[in-house]
Amino acid sequence: MEEMEVIFRIKRFDGEREYWSNFVIPAKKGMTVLEGLFYVKENYDSSLAFRASCRMGICGSCAIKINGKPKLACETQILHLNSNKIKVEPLDNFKVIKDLITEFEGFFVKHSRVKPYLIRKEDNYAEPVELIQKPSQLSKYYDYSLCIKCGACYSVCPASSSRDDYLGPAAMASAYRFIADSRDEGYKERMEIVCGDCGVWRCHFAGECSEVCPKGVEPAKAIQKLRFKSALYMLRKLFMG
Ligand code: SF4
Ligand code: FES
Repeated sequence: MEEMEVIFRIKRFDGEREYWSNFVIPAKKGMTVLEGLFYVKENYDSSLAFRASCRMGICGSCAIKINGKPKLACETQILHLNSNKIKVEPLDNFKVIKDLITEFEGFFVKHSRVKPYLIRKEDNYAEPVELIQKPSQLSKYYDYSLCIKCGACYSVCPASSSRDDYLGPAAMASAYRFIADSRDEGYKERMEIVCGDCGVWRCHFAGECSEVCPKGVEPAKAIQKLRFKSALYMLRKLFMG
C-alpha cells in the first residue's frame, strides 16, 4: 500500500483535564508516526505537544505509546501498523506534563544513582591514559551500552509502577554495563546500590522491559546477571566482611 487516510486518536492533557482528539492523516509510504504528529501540529492544532529531536532513533526523546505499545515515534512507520486507526498516548509510569510530553527528571535521577560512568581509582585525568580493551572484553557490556534513555522499558515495568523508589530497568542495565567493563574500578560502590533496597531485588521479572526496548538492550537479562553477582557479593560480605 502506497498511501491511505489514517485517523490519529491522540490522548491530550492540558494541565487540568484529559481528553482525546482525532485527526485525519494522509499517510504515505515511509511516513512515520512522528511525521504524522508534525502534520497534525502544522495543519490542525499547533498546540499539540510532543517531544522529538534527532528523528533517527538516537536521542530517545520521542518514545510514546502507539496502539498500546511503547515505541519510538520516529522509527515507527504508519503504514507498517496495518490499521487505519492509530491510538497515540504518553508513556505509562511517567507523570504527564502536557499531551504526549512526560516528566523525565526522576528517571534521569535514578539513572545517575548507579554512577553511569567509568570509576578509576588512580586516574586524575591530567595525563591521558589509554585503556586498551580486547573485543572479548567489549562484548561483555556492548549491548547494554546501546541504551538511549527513551524510558520505554520503565513505562512497562510493574515494579516501577508499584514502587516509586525502584531504580528501574534502564538504570539496572546501565549499572551492569559499567560493572561488566574491565576498565571500571567502582564495583563495590556500585554493587552497594544495586543490592540495596531500590535495586535488583525489587524487579518482578516480568521481562516486558526487554520486549519493548527499541535498541535490543535487554534490561531483564542485565538484571538476572546482576542478581547473580548481587547474591555472591552479599554472601562474601556476610562471611568475609
Ligand atoms: S533499556 Fe531500552 S527501552 Fe530502556 S531506556 Fe534504554 S533504550 Fe529505552
Ligand atoms: S526523535 Fe530521537 S529517537 Fe526519535
